Amino acid sequence: MPYRDLQPIIERLARHIEAGPVATKVPAKEIRRHLEQSFDLATPMPFTDLFSKVTKMLDRWQVQVTHPRYFGLFNPSVTTASVVADTLVAAYNPQLAAWSHSPAANEIERFTLRALAARLGLDPETTASHFTSGGAEANLTALLAALAHTFPSWREQGLRSLPAQPRFYLSQEGHHSFHKAARVSGLGDDAVVTIPVDAGGRMRLGALEAAVEADRRAGFAPMMVVATAGTTGSGAIDPLAETAAFCRRQPLWLHIDAAWAGAAALSPKLRPHLAAIDQADSLTFDAHKWLAVPMGAGMFFCRHPTAVKIAFDQHTPYMPAPGGGATEDPYSRSLQWSRRFIGLKLFVTLAEVGFPGVIERIESQTDLGDELRRLLTAAGWRIANDTPLPVVCFTRPGVEIPSLVRQLHHRQIAWMSPIRIGGGPLLVRACITGHRTTSEDLVEVVARLAELV
Ligand SMILES: Cc1ncc(COP(=O)(O)O)c(C=O)c1O
Repeated sequence: MPYRDLQPIIERLARHIEAGPVATKVPAKEIRRHLEQSFDLATPMPFTDLFSKVTKMLDRWQVQVTHPRYFGLFNPSVTTASVVADTLVAAYNPQLAAWSHSPAANEIERFTLRALAARLGLDPETTASHFTSGGAEANLTALLAALAHTFPSWREQGLRSLPAQPRFYLSQEGHHSFHKAARVSGLGDDAVVTIPVDAGGRMRLGALEAAVEADRRAGFAPMMVVATAGTTGSGAIDPLAETAAFCRRQPLWLHIDAAWAGAAALSPKLRPHLAAIDQADSLTFDAHKWLAVPMGAGMFFCRHPTAVKIAFDQHTPYMPAPGGGATEDPYSRSLQWSRRFIGLKLFVTLAEVGFPGVIERIESQTDLGDELRRLLTAAGWRIANDTPLPVVCFTRPGVEIPSLVRQLHHRQIAWMSPIRIGGGPLLVRACITGHRTTSEDLVEVVARLAELV
């Protein structure tokens, strides 16, 4: 069977990437010239030549996110099983829009999502859930579901029927996909109210309460609060329980954006930091960030199936009728129509090592984050963020951050990025969400950082 042949190839590729550079720097015009000279798209090219050329480009002109010294933006190294799964998906090309076209694939996704819902503390029987292309789509889905839930006339008559301009709230460290979602939904940028954060990068609840109250007085219609469980920049976790209590009192829809740190909620050791994640009306959780599977694999969970139905329900005779006792076809419960078998890579990852194996990886990467903090502090760096998660933002007096980051890349020491938290000074940001990173990598990187100061 093909998977047996694929395994050694994928593992050889991972070793090949590990032995090479992590960073890249290339002018666009060099790649464009190379493409024009190498491929005229008129003369057929033998398969092996073609793939040899393509892999050379990917080797040279790409930040290698599966490299052990990639400390980047939640693009994980990937398990062999998940890559084989994605390859099989491409080859079988199942269509998941209608249940009856791909009963096996649809039921594997359903099974996987229910297992995760249960682990997150959501009720698998009543929670609506589906896979998305990523966190941005899941966040947009949340906004649409919240609109459907809050404003009964929205589905038929649109935004112009609403009695007041809706507004929703997220911290100034919340993800910028919500601004895009506001535009896509027709609400516009002005509907997004950004709330200041405390010194740890967490949304200030008092400021949230004041903003909602002021908006009500001014005639707006507050509809949703987004709490971020693991901000992109510094891994801050908003006060979830207090925000949930506030949303219940209002009432307001609570969306928790746990795009990358949702994985921490699977670990009994880390779960207390995300306590109250199960109180969300809707939740974003990406498998392609910290669960070691290839892009794009996001997930959306929602405790109001009726809102999801109102937002996306659609039927037409050219689509096959639901079969096999399944009551819902994915195309009529989500934004996508044609639907790739996104869930297989996550299913095989969970099935291969079980939840204990996945939790072990998450906890060991979290331990590496702690180790990196210790090593940096001992070497004279100052840690500038406050999170139990493996995102480490650091600085040192007199160090020019953009030049330091450039040198890290240029000397192939590591891939890290510059960041500002809450409008503060530039810092260096290092995040560990890849299972190929080891203690030895951290020791070497911190030792080589000394070359740059
Ligand atoms: C907190 C958070 N939400 C949403 C997103 C967007 O996710 P995606 O890139 O999968 O669309 C990100 C991406 O890093 C994120 O960190």
